[in-house]
Amino acid sequence: MFSSSVAPLSFLLLTPYSPVLFIDNDDVQARCLTNSFYGIYGGQSVFKLTDPSCLSVESFGTLEGGSLLPLSENTHQLVWVQESAVDDALRTPDYEEEVYTFLKFLNTESLPINAALHGSGQEFMSSKPGVELLHSSASSALLAVDPDSAQTIDTILPRFWKSAILPASPVSYLPVPAPAIDHIKGLLSTLKFDPVIASTVNSLSISQMRSDIRFLTNEDGRSGIVTRHSFASGSRVAADWLLERFEETGATCELKSFLVGFAPNVICRYPSTTETTSTVLISGHYDSRGSFGSQRAPGGNDDGSGTIALLNIARAIAKTGITFRSNVELVAFAGEEQGLLGSKAYAREMRNQDANITLMIQADMLGYHAPGEPAQLGLPQSIGTPEVAELVSKVSGIYSPELTIGYSPACCSDHQSFYELGYPSTQVFERAGPIADPMYHNSGDVSDRVGYDLHQIRSIAKVQFATLLHAAGFDLPEYENLQ
Ligand SMILES: *[C@@H]1O[C@H](CO)[C@@H](O)[C@H](O)[C@H]1NC(C)=O
Ligand SMILES: [Zn+2]
Repeated sequence: MFSSSVAPLSFLLLTPYSPVLFIDNDDVQARCLTNSFYGIYGGQSVFKLTDPSCLSVESFGTLEGGSLLPLSENTHQLVWVQESAVDDALRTPDYEEEVYTFLKFLNTESLPINAALHGSGQEFMSSKPGVELLHSSASSALLAVDPDSAQTIDTILPRFWKSAILPASPVSYLPVPAPAIDHIKGLLSTLKFDPVIASTVNSLSISQMRSDIRFLTNEDGRSGIVTRHSFASGSRVAADWLLERFEETGATCELKSFLVGFAPNVICRYPSTTETTSTVLISGHYDSRGSFGSQRAPGGNDDGSGTIALLNIARAIAKTGITFRSNVELVAFAGEEQGLLGSKAYAREMRNQDANITLMIQADMLGYHAPGEPAQLGLPQSIGTPEVAELVSKVSGIYSPELTIGYSPACCSDHQSFYELGYPSTQVFERAGPIADPMYHNSGDVSDRVGYDLHQIRSIAKVQFATLLHAAGFDLPEYENLQ
C-alpha cells in the first residue's frame, strides 16, 4: 500500500456505467467510487481519484473495459466530447471528413485551437487557445481546455458530436431508491384507460403547436431569434416569451439562472390541491445548437419540439381547468447542449431541498422520423429508470396507439441529471432507433421540412401529458363538458 509520505496521485478512471459499482455502501471500493464520481458521459462513468489506495489493483482488474489516466495538476477544465448515436444514413462522406479533421486536430498536441479550425472558431478566436487530449476513441474524447473555451466548444464540434463540461468537484450518485420504484410499480399495476384523461390529452392542438414552433424558430419572422444557443440573446428572448406563455396558463414561473453567461432555466409550477410533498416534473430543453460556421440554430426539432409539447400541455391545462392533486412542475431547461448543465443544477437543488420528485419525463426531439417510417416513440436503452419507461410505454399504448414504440441508443438528455440523483426518470424521443434527423444540430433544423411531423409531436406530447395526469392525480371542474 501507499505510505503517507508519498504524494497522492491523481488519476481519472473511466469505466462503462453500471449501477452495481455504487451499490454496496459498506464496501470500501463502492464508497471510494461514490465519493470520487464526476458523472456519466457517453455511457462511461468518470471518477477522479486522489487516493488510489481505496481502489486496489485487484479490484481495478474487475472493472471491465476501464481505463486509468494519470492527471497532471492544472487549472484546465475537463470536457467530454462524444458522438451521438446516429443512423448510418447520416454518415455521409462530408460528415466523416469533418470527424476525421476533428480527431486529427485533437491528436495534434497542444495546437492552438483556433489554428486548426480554418480560422473560423468564432468565440474561440478571442480566448486563450489550447487543448490537451487526455483520452480518445473513434467516437469520444476527454479534453482539458481553458475554461472559456470549454463553454463554447460545442460550436466547433463535428455536427453529431456533443460536449459535456465536467464539474469542478465530485458529484454524488444516488441510485433510485426501492420505495420510489415501488411507487411507479403501483402506478403500473392500477393503470387503465380513463376517458377524462383521453379527452384532456386530445385537446392538444396541432395548429397552436405549429404557431408556437414557428415563433421559436423565427420561421414566421415574429421573434427575430437567430439562435437559442445558451449564450445568445435569442435564448433570452425565448426564455421571456416562454415565461409569459406559461404564466398565462395559471402557472407560477421563474427564470432561474444556474451559471454565469448561460440563459436561465424556465421553471413553472402548478400547486397541489391535496398532497403537499410529492412533485411530478415534465420537461424539455429550449436551448439549441447549429452547424459549425453558422450562427443560425433554429432548433425546430432539437428541442423546439419538446418545448412546444410542454407549452401545449400547459395550454391544455388552462383550457380544461384541470387541477392537480400533487405538485406539478413544467421546466424548460437551458445549457443542455453544453452537457445538461441547466438540469444538473436544478436536480442538485431539488435533491438538496429533499424534494420528493416521484416521476420525471424529459421530451427531447419528438419531431422527426425517416420518410416512410411510421410515427414512433423512442425510450432510452441505457440511462433512465426502466419502470418509468414501461409506464410511459403502457400509457402510449392506451392514449396514442398510433405510435410504434421501441428503444433508442440515442443517449442522454436532461433526465440523466435527475436519474443520477435518485429520481425515477425517463426520456421520450422520436424514434425507435438512433438519431436519423439529417438536420440534427444543423442550421436547417426548421419545422417546415420533409420528415418533421407535428402529428408525431402531438402524439408523444399526449403520452407525456397522460402519464403526468395518471401520476399526479387531478380534478376537473368541467368534467361533464368533456364527456
Ligand atoms: C413521496 O411521494 C409519494 C407519493 O405521494 C409518497 O408515496 C412517498 O411516501 C413520498 N416520499 C417521501 C420520502 O416523502
Ligand atoms: Zn436535445
